[in-house]
Amino acid sequence: MRSKPITLLLASLMLAAAIAPAGAQQPPTQPLAGDAARASNPRLADLMEAAQLRHIKLWFAGKAANWKLAGYQTRQIKARLQEAASLYQSLAVNDVTTMAKPLDAVAAAIAAEDSKAFVKAYGELTAGCNSCHESVKLGFIVLQTPTVNPISDQNFAPAKKK
Ligand code: HEC
Repeated sequence: MRSKPITLLLASLMLAAAIAPAGAQQPPTQPLAGDAARASNPRLADLMEAAQLRHIKLWFAGKAANWKLAGYQTRQIKARLQEAASLYQSLAVNDVTTMAKPLDAVAAAIAAEDSKAFVKAYGELTAGCNSCHESVKLGFIVLQTPTVNPISDQNFAPAKKK
């Protein structure tokens, strides 16, 4: 015989299933277990693409002297690289930590609102990306300073002070 709590649990699970839209998976707030959790980890190449997008945005934010946006993009790049290092332990920690210096230099230039220092630090950051790619035999993945802004749905100009 089923105990009352279990019946209640089943009933609420059925209710949840009925409410959930067709094809809906677990709510994103629920942690997944085992293989599902592994499958839900972002792929390294996707984390890198996310870093690449921020690398582009950082440049155009810096060029526009939108220092708040530039600071935000720098933190995003740092977070993606940290995520990559923690999820993919095959990445040499050394390669990841060497990124701290150029990232700090970028952050310092942003804090000082110094366009010249920003350009220099951005070059060092990009060189850091490439030197890790070389060290993992992916020297054909070469980052450079973006030449055109492919992102037309985001305004990089600093918000007007009210
Ligand atoms: C610690 C080493 C390391 C650092 C630092 C690093 N990468 Fe990568 N990157 C990799 C590895 C490894 C791959 C290959 C991932 C794969 O294929 O699974 C990769 C792949 C890429 C790719 C190819 C993804 C694609 O689909 O085209 C891009 C773009 C990229 N990285 C951008 C960057 C940028 C931008 C930075 C610097 C902000 C950076 N990477 C810093 C290790 C690194």
